[in-house]
Amino acid sequence: MENETLQTIYSRRSVRSFTGELISRDALIKILRAGMSAPSAVNVQPWSFIAVTKREVLDALCEKLPYAKMLGKAGAAIIVCGIPDKDEVFSRDYWVMDCSAATENILLACHALGFGAVWTAVYVDEERIKDVREILNIPPNIIPLNVVPIGIPKDKGKVVDKFKEENIHWEAW
Ligand SMILES: Cc1cc2nc3c(=O)[nH]c(=O)nc-3n(C[C@H](O)[C@H](O)[C@H](O)COP(=O)(O)O)c2cc1C
Repeated sequence: MENETLQTIYSRRSVRSFTGELISRDALIKILRAGMSAPSAVNVQPWSFIAVTKREVLDALCEKLPYAKMLGKAGAAIIVCGIPDKDEVFSRDYWVMDCSAATENILLACHALGFGAVWTAVYVDEERIKDVREILNIPPNIIPLNVVPIGIPKDKGKVVDKFKEENIHWEAW
């Protein structure tokens, strides 16, 4: 059998249809630990995570975010935020990459634990940033990069192999 970690990576898909069941704090901590295990430039870790399970907050986000309507049936959401001024040099230029690495870890952890999740974009849309900031009281020096709705998948998604030989340019051996 193929390595279990690789199987998880290969079979992850965006899940947008949930049963509505709540996600436990224990599960969210595991998922957030995966997020914080991501690499970051010079290990600055310029991130902050908002974990939401309150129905009215999920609904408020759902109402404002046009491409995150699955929040209506999500059991939780994690808002991945960047802190560009976390240090004097590196976080300003690298926070998007660092927080994107954390987000992918979050998506993989959700999948590994049997949950479904999807990256929904906030940054770089000024209006969405403003709306998410208002709903969650995010201070001006912290930027919401995305909202990741999480839930129990309603149906079993289809695994698609996205490997494309033409995307690789060998300069080897
Ligand atoms: C930067 C970024 C922004 C995305 N924004 C949204 C979004 O707003 N809403 C959504 O439903 N999916 C969003 N997605 C998920 C993509 O649509 C999805 O990853 C892509 O179609 C590939 O499908 P897969 O994740 O199942 O492999 C986003 C993904 C990324 C990386």
